[in-house]
Amino acid sequence: MIKIAPSILAADFARLGEEVEEIRRGGADYLHFDVMDGVFVPNISIGLPVLKSLRKATDMFIDAHLMIERPLRYVERFCDQGADLVNVHVEADSEENILAALKAIRAKGRKCGITLKPATPAEAARPFLKLADLVLVMTVEPGFGGQSFMFDMLEKIRLLRVMLDEEHPDCELEVDGGITVETAVPAKAAGANVLVAGSAVFGKADRAAAISAIRNS
Ligand code: DX5
Ligand code: ZN
Repeated sequence: MIKIAPSILAADFARLGEEVEEIRRGGADYLHFDVMDGVFVPNISIGLPVLKSLRKATDMFIDAHLMIERPLRYVERFCDQGADLVNVHVEADSEENILAALKAIRAKGRKCGITLKPATPAEAARPFLKLADLVLVMTVEPGFGGQSFMFDMLEKIRLLRVMLDEEHPDCELEVDGGITVETAVPAKAAGANVLVAGSAVFGKADRAAAISAIRNS
């Protein structure tokens, strides 16, 4: 079953509650919540207070993608403010501290994930595969919505699918960046089962139609 995770980075922040309700009714599986600190990536987005408000406004599964340096400092607070899954970048700290972050998330009873930037090889995920509930492959440079899908990431998705089938078959494999009705096809064929889509959902007037078109392409 393919899951669709609309990224609210592309939503109208002045009417966030209504935007979220539209994707929930439109059949979205996860709400993808992009957090940027202006250091790990060259942009600043949203953080804990917005998560807290959203948690009160919706019962959707919130998938928090932390594009921040040294995420161990903040993961527990993202759990406390209502994220269902907290995802950290493997490049954001030492292996030891990323492992500690994953364990801290699990200790809070939440799901944990790891993310790989485009230049990071699949093998970099190896130390975390048994612990992670989800592995995210970035198919654009993190920092901005609306960029073009990097087709050369398909091989990495295939490699990770094989690694997960061997080491942790229940682990989800998510792709993020440049997903459209067209690019969803090779991403699914490569083995991804969760597709993040910002512009391709919130850029369309009919969100329900956009979500099903990506799911069924
Ligand atoms: C980029 C973010 C993405 C982004 C995706 O750093 O992690 O989630 O919002 O946007 P689209 O789907 O427009 O590429
Ligand atoms: Zn994201």
